[in-house]
Amino acid sequence: MNYQAILNQIHNDIKPIVGQGKVADYIPALAGIDPKKFAMTVHTVDGQYASVGDAEEKFSIQSISKIITLTMAIACADQTIWSRVGREPSGSKFNSLIQLELEQGIPRNPFINAGAHVITDIIYSNHSYPKQAILDFIRYVSLNHEIDFDLAVAHSERETGNRNLAMGYFMKSFGNIHNKVREVLDVYFHQCSIAMSCKDLSTAFLYLANNGVLPTLGKTIISKKDSDRINALMLTCGMYDSVGDFAYRVGLPSKSGVGGGIVSIVPGEMCITVWSPGLSESGNSLVGTRALELFVNYTGKTIF
Ligand code: DON
Repeated sequence: MNYQAILNQIHNDIKPIVGQGKVADYIPALAGIDPKKFAMTVHTVDGQYASVGDAEEKFSIQSISKIITLTMAIACADQTIWSRVGREPSGSKFNSLIQLELEQGIPRNPFINAGAHVITDIIYSNHSYPKQAILDFIRYVSLNHEIDFDLAVAHSERETGNRNLAMGYFMKSFGNIHNKVREVLDVYFHQCSIAMSCKDLSTAFLYLANNGVLPTLGKTIISKKDSDRINALMLTCGMYDSVGDFAYRVGLPSKSGVGGGIVSIVPGEMCITVWSPGLSESGNSLVGTRALELFVNYTGKTIF
């Protein structure tokens, strides 16, 4: 299949809607991003690569970092993960507090904010230098040793992250955060601030398309079983309260971030990444979702 021709076609198709959606402004450092940015890449497990738009421009990966930390927490073989975090879609906003009260401080899944805090708490307990461990991991899988935190974004989130802190303290009151809330949340804000391009992301997450093995290095990152499980969680929980609509339209395990990025996996075949900063009501890239829908329509590459 000629993926470059397909991406060119999609780039052309989405031109009339580029700029639609609302850039996340609840994180002040993200508010100034040009909503007209667009990029899309395809990276196959057998080494084909195609791209359109601003594919090498770095953006804030935000909640896409939740795949990184979940992979690392699973790799720590911490047996407590699934007694501390659920595996069900939340049906609520990614930063909702309501379910936490009803469900005794156990977040529904690792991809909503509260669930990611617990996962980061696990990383904090298992690594002496958790921020550095997260950077080392993402640099390794993306083959790009220049990837770094965007400190302006991290500090912006720390200054304004009262809702995240509230969730952290609330879970701590149930005993579900084991370390100091401010320290765990500092790691969380830094992981969300990591700046990467679509090219970096579609290289990094190829292990999820290849049974846990990074094809670029021939290295096992996690077991096939765990790779399948992360894909299952991405399919059912990766797109927040529009996960059902996204599965209907796209049908691929995916994870979004409020920076406007989405990573999608075609198991056994490829990692697709798209970036367009304008978000839908549920916090997912509006144009990015449409571009992925077009990709699946043109290629038939859906898991269903
Ligand atoms: O904690 C937050 O609210 C952000 N750092 C991340 C949220 C996010 O990316 C949700 N994604 N769609």
